[in-house]
Amino acid sequence: MSVEVSREGAVAVVTVNRPEALNAIDLETITVLRDRLRELAVDVGVRAVVLTGSGEKAFIAGADIKYMSTLTVLEARAWGALGHECATLLETMPKATVAAVNGFALGGGCELALGCDIRYASTRAKLGQPEINLGILPGWGGSQRLARVVGLGIAKELIFTGRMVDAAEAHRIGLVNAVFEPEELLGKALELAQSLAAKSPAALAFAKQATNLSLQGALADGLAQEATLFAALFATEDQSEGMSAFIEKRTPGFTGR
Ligand code: CAA
Repeated sequence: MSVEVSREGAVAVVTVNRPEALNAIDLETITVLRDRLRELAVDVGVRAVVLTGSGEKAFIAGADIKYMSTLTVLEARAWGALGHECATLLETMPKATVAAVNGFALGGGCELALGCDIRYASTRAKLGQPEINLGILPGWGGSQRLARVVGLGIAKELIFTGRMVDAAEAHRIGLVNAVFEPEELLGKALELAQSLAAKSPAALAFAKQATNLSLQGALADGLAQEATLFAALFATEDQSEGMSAFIEKRTPGFTGR
């Protein structure tokens, strides 16, 4: 299968699996990825998702250039919409998403990583938006999300030049949250995902929803949303459990109710 999903408790690991093409994403792969992400978004047994690529060389080396080379304008529009849906699912599903960037994350690969809440990279990772070298621009969200993560000046430089950054530079500019040795990366990403899966699902989902608003629209609108979500959590058993556990000096057991 071009996309594999495995479970480790409440964590789902989604692996793009076309190592012979450095996990470049063709039509079948993006369609299956979209379907799996849709399922995971509504699966209450899954509280966190890790996205990674198979093999030792690549996370995802982008959209499949051989496939894209023959697209018409209308087909390109549909292709862009599929990538947008995947990145938006990662960005908005009511559970944490973590990219384990184990190698090349280029073009659409970088854009899917940008859809994730948190990015961990291996020392071997190389990230970038090289679309300019193909005579196109980032079409799966990179022209909007990269600047939100690294700032407008650096985003413009990377998108206009197509330059790749290594893991150390990606960390320095805030494109990835942390860097690990290749053999440690997936374990560290799983550890993070497991720790997020143990949080109150409602609190995490609402925190994600509120934080996603922070770089969009007016501050007053974001604060109004925060106020509503903050108050709503006081109707959950998890709020009562979290605060009782603090007062009783014990570890909370969150149920999601
Ligand atoms: N699409 C299709 N095939 C790809 C691919 C891609 N994005 N990236 C790699 N491959 C294939 C290569 O064609 C090659 O296949 P063959 O053996 O059949 O020729 C195989 O993967 C191995 O790749 P290389 O031999 O090129 O490996 P390398 O180590 O020499 O180079 C690389 C690695 C620098 C990542 C290079 O493969 C490369 O530049 N790939 C393209 C990266 C790119 O431009 N990505 C952006 C695509 S555009 C996009 O994603 C648009 C969007 O916003 C949605």
